[in-house]
Amino acid sequence: MSRIHNFSSGPSCLPEEVLREIRDGMLDWQGSGMSVLEMPFSSPEYRAIAAAAERDLRELLGVPARHRILFLQGGAYAHFGILAMNLLPPGGSADYVVTGLWSERAAAEARRHGAVRIAASGAHEGYRGIPPCESWRLDPAAAYCHLTTNETAHGVQFRELPETGAVPLVADVTSDFLTRPIEVSRCGLLYASAQKNAGCAGLTVVIVREDMLRDAADVTPSPFDYRRQAECNGCVNTPSTFSVYCAGLMFAWMRRNGGVPAFAQSTARRSARLYEIIDGSPLYRCPVEPAHRSQVNLCFRLPGRGLEREFLEQAARHGLHHLEGHSAIGGIRVSLHNATPDTSVEALIAFMRDFAARRHAAA
Ligand SMILES: Cc1ncc(COP(=O)(O)O)c(C=O)c1O
Repeated sequence: MSRIHNFSSGPSCLPEEVLREIRDGMLDWQGSGMSVLEMPFSSPEYRAIAAAAERDLRELLGVPARHRILFLQGGAYAHFGILAMNLLPPGGSADYVVTGLWSERAAAEARRHGAVRIAASGAHEGYRGIPPCESWRLDPAAAYCHLTTNETAHGVQFRELPETGAVPLVADVTSDFLTRPIEVSRCGLLYASAQKNAGCAGLTVVIVREDMLRDAADVTPSPFDYRRQAECNGCVNTPSTFSVYCAGLMFAWMRRNGGVPAFAQSTARRSARLYEIIDGSPLYRCPVEPAHRSQVNLCFRLPGRGLEREFLEQAARHGLHHLEGHSAIGGIRVSLHNATPDTSVEALIAFMRDFAARRHAAA
């Protein structure tokens, strides 16, 4: 099977081993005489698939017993508003820490459903880092404090979860989900779209502490009422069964390959090597402060859009694809996911070195 080097930020590359398992279950799941696509969601077969996925995810992240795992639809963007419908009481307000495009969007969507305070923002510095925690203006009465652990478009990442006192932390972990350990016990709720490290699009994983399951706003559609979904084990409506199946296979693959600590180690090692190339050449420039650079989405610039286009065109000719930055930002972005093969990273490093050397020789 011939495959490109795929650095897409998502949907992103999947392990060939898992793609083959998906293919097998597509035709006949474990001799059941049914494709996964054909299973009623109430069938014992689908319930077994969902239960195994939940069990493996709980194990991978060390999810405590008092946190529920929900496999929902919508995508993280939809949950920006949905979580506010679920967590913001009438007359209450929520704090948002804005560190890039995605947390900006999360705050804007929540504002449609209640009062949102921006406790801190890196906007005035062009999202080159995370404002120091001492400067945050947190409201001790906030219903929750929201942050985005990894800003996929700006390449900014929290190294650790901040202290928010008694205010529950709510985290969008979409783009660094399962790339490193996270203290789930310190979060009231965390959520992630699946199409980066947990299979394919169509699934949003919501991990929520039981005491956060409250009365949702009246306008909340029932399939997005977290408490109702928790009460009936995620079956208010048809779950995205195929996406849950794919996520389950990814979770099992990660467990077979050393679990989250092993992937965290390889993410740290590979991103460090790439930043070394970026910082070691006058051609490449990463605008993000070293302390807050993402290990998952490495964003950098070349001098001028013409040269960036040339970089992307030549990279594609070397089989290196989907390296363009987010459409709102431009530049180059390397996305490293758990399934990104080392051979792809090596091929990219060789290309970047060679491209820089050729520019240097031509200058
Ligand atoms: C950090 C983050 N949050 C939210 C989203 C939105 O996810 P979706 O398009 O699945 O709704 C993305 C998409 O890339 C993201 O990177």
